[in-house]
Amino acid sequence: MTLTAVVTGGSGGIGREVVRELQARSWEVTSLSRREGTDVSDEKDVVRAFRQLKSLDALIHCAQVLIKRPFARMTADVWDRQIDSGLRGAFLCSREAFKLMRRRGGSIVLVSSLSGVFGAEKFPGMSAYVAAKSGLAGLTEALAVEGRERGIRVNAISPGSVDTPMLRTAGVEGPALQPAEVARIIVWLASTESSPLSGANLRMDP
Ligand SMILES: NC(=O)c1ccc[n+]([C@@H]2O[C@H](COP(=O)([O-])OP(=O)(O)OC[C@H]3O[C@@H](n4cnc5c(N)ncnc54)[C@H](OP(=O)(O)O)[C@@H]3O)[C@@H](O)[C@H]2O)c1
Repeated sequence: MTLTAVVTGGSGGIGREVVRELQARSWEVTSLSRREGTDVSDEKDVVRAFRQLKSLDALIHCAQVLIKRPFARMTADVWDRQIDSGLRGAFLCSREAFKLMRRRGGSIVLVSSLSGVFGAEKFPGMSAYVAAKSGLAGLTEALAVEGRERGIRVNAISPGSVDTPMLRTAGVEGPALQPAEVARIIVWLASTESSPLSGANLRMDP
């Protein structure tokens, strides 16, 4: 039986590696990103994309916009774009995944960040990003509870710096993980190999 996955942000640094790793294991993968025609913060786009699928074994939500902006100069639009791609996107995609997974369960992996972990080091200009990533940590716990009786596992991963275009935007110096290293852990969480783990938020330090 072919396993199927949706990877949001599959055109980006970590997401692209997740797509590669899943395909190497013969999964059938749908990547959703704006450059591939789907904005995960747009409800119509998301519903249309998931409607193409007959079944779903895993959802991996990597999509996220990062726009650095000092908080006093933060505009509502710049705030919304970051919360919407990360948190609203996770809500919309997870809701559609819950529907598709109702018969045989599945696995959802939300990609948060070390910056979304309470107490871990934060960097200036990233308030909306940090809020989105912290929201994903809470959403993971909430969905793990509602997923349990449906056989749906929901876990998060919270990496520190990863060598991708987003890290260049963040301008954070120091050691960084490679996208493929993070992707391998994400794929493990997405697969039944990590069963029955649910509600976990795996911290990955560089
Ligand atoms: N890099 C790091 O240091 C780091 C550390 C911790 C966590 N993370 C997290 O890891 C995930 C992947 O990040 P990355 O470093 O690989 O970043 P990236 O290279 O900038 O990739 C981001 C991806 O998200 C997609 N995306 C953004 N907004 C979207 C939207 N509204 N709808 C659909 N797709 C959207 C982008 O594609 P389009 O532009 O085509 O839409 C792109 O494929 C993110 O959740 C990020 O927060 C990254």
